[in-house]
Amino acid sequence: MSLAEKIGQMTQVEKNSITPEDVTTYFVGSVLSGGGGFPRPNTPEAWRAMVVAYQEAALATPLGIPLLYGVDAVHGHNNLRGATIFPHNIGLGAANDPALVEEIARATAAELHATGVQWNFAPVVAVTQDIRWGRTYEGYGEATALVSDLGAAFVRGTQGAGILATPKHFIGDGATAFGSSTTGGYLLDQEDARIDEATLRRVHLPPYQAALAAGARSVMASFSSWNGDKVHGSRYLLTDLLKGELGFDGFVVSDWQAIDQLPGDYYSDVVTAINAGVDMVMTPYDYRAFIATLTRAVEQGDVSQERIDDAVSRILRVKFEQGLFEQPLAAEEDFALVGGAAHRALARTAVQRSLVLLKNEDVLPLATDAGLILVAGAAADDIGRQAGGWTIEWQGGSGDITEGTSILDGIREVVAPATQVEFDRFGRFERVVDAAGAPLPAAACIGVVGEEPYAEGLGDRRTLNLADHERDMLARLRERCARLVVVIVSGRPLVITEELPQWDALVAAWLPGSEGGGVADVLFGAAPFTGKLSFTWPASNEQLPINSSSDPAQGEPLFPLGFGLTTAP
Ligand code: GLC
Repeated sequence: MSLAEKIGQMTQVEKNSITPEDVTTYFVGSVLSGGGGFPRPNTPEAWRAMVVAYQEAALATPLGIPLLYGVDAVHGHNNLRGATIFPHNIGLGAANDPALVEEIARATAAELHATGVQWNFAPVVAVTQDIRWGRTYEGYGEATALVSDLGAAFVRGTQGAGILATPKHFIGDGATAFGSSTTGGYLLDQEDARIDEATLRRVHLPPYQAALAAGARSVMASFSSWNGDKVHGSRYLLTDLLKGELGFDGFVVSDWQAIDQLPGDYYSDVVTAINAGVDMVMTPYDYRAFIATLTRAVEQGDVSQERIDDAVSRILRVKFEQGLFEQPLAAEEDFALVGGAAHRALARTAVQRSLVLLKNEDVLPLATDAGLILVAGAAADDIGRQAGGWTIEWQGGSGDITEGTSILDGIREVVAPATQVEFDRFGRFERVVDAAGAPLPAAACIGVVGEEPYAEGLGDRRTLNLADHERDMLARLRERCARLVVVIVSGRPLVITEELPQWDALVAAWLPGSEGGGVADVLFGAAPFTGKLSFTWPASNEQLPINSSSDPAQGEPLFPLGFGLTTAP
């Protein structure tokens, strides 16, 4: 292989930045879709055509080395409209069933495979210590053992289905200190994990040991720092620890332009990152600059040929293992798999298992023949809200952004035909009155509130309260109904201590994804409540960060890790 062919293998480019022709010209070894990186039209056919075009371009190079096409399928093939959207990992953490996670990973892999995609930048195995982090929902929980078990299950399901898995972000992404930004960045995301090595090894390393044992063949480095040193520039972490001590012989991929955050100019960024142990660089835009810079660094001796050969050997080893040389193009798959009934049924079961019942004054489950049910809250009838970030667009979005069943649709589906279900997003129900104009008595009010979609650092928050308009809406429901059930659709626990006494029942639904029917199933007794908190639920913003290992002087949380009421099956 020429140096140019070798460096091409170490280059990963976002699909909007490169043509298939340039994949051939520059021997590029990987292309990705970033969050929202869908083709137009956003259909399985168009996805497959897009991937095939890049693959054929790679195969047209003299050596014909197939490329890897990667996406973030963190809760289903979530950039693709119509794909099954599973609950985000925080909900799967509450279900805490490795077999379920493995099944979801296989289903996700099958939908990826159907569209030609061979690589999933997942699972997130952050052991998140501060729920103010915008990526809390991408992780399974705050406890190392649970994250290790579920992350390994996702890797088994993904690699077992022939898709390359990528536990991320190595290491300590969930341990950053609030407000530790040194670059004027976010409040927590990509910032500094100020912990000693014993803590790093005890809390944050086991999920990677479990993921590698489960067969993960690539690992993504973390934007964050450890005690002031950017992980992407840490030879100790990426080479000595991950590749040496843990014996990892797959490849390390950088995060999105993450090497640019290293101190120094771009030349030193490239030299530092490659010599630290980054094997493939996610250079979403200016791949020509990366290729030219690394070429110059090798020619000047700042990056050795041995390091280049090591990186390329790792990448080619994984491509061989993944069967890419034998079958560079996934066989023509049945597109009906994508968003098909079987996967949606699996997702609905996962939703049922993910819900956590936090309060129940003998209200739940509701009777399906209840007469009149009032449903309020924008989140009750909004697929985008219930799916959260990383859905179709990077940041997600509100409204009918993809096919699915809203919580309201699910309620209408599960109640008896004679039961009247009325919806008013503001909870006023001014037309739900009798002939005399008096409010019709309702068996119960269901108020669905929570968070608007967000992803990554844009979801970092100083405080975690409900919006005032949602609190006001719930107060109206309180006046209107003898029984008030509150459902929170959010990427993390919220501070609701003050409001809770006004509510008769409280359900944490997290970010259930496309199958809102699973929420209705449990509210109306078609399935029991079984979920348990995988994050400590704070009593106040002042307590944050709080988790199961916090100092008791911080006070009692509102609900401890592992809490969850149950109902009869
Ligand atoms: C993002 C995320 C990472 C993702 C990558 C590609 O910034 O940090 O989790 O895999 O870029 O979308």
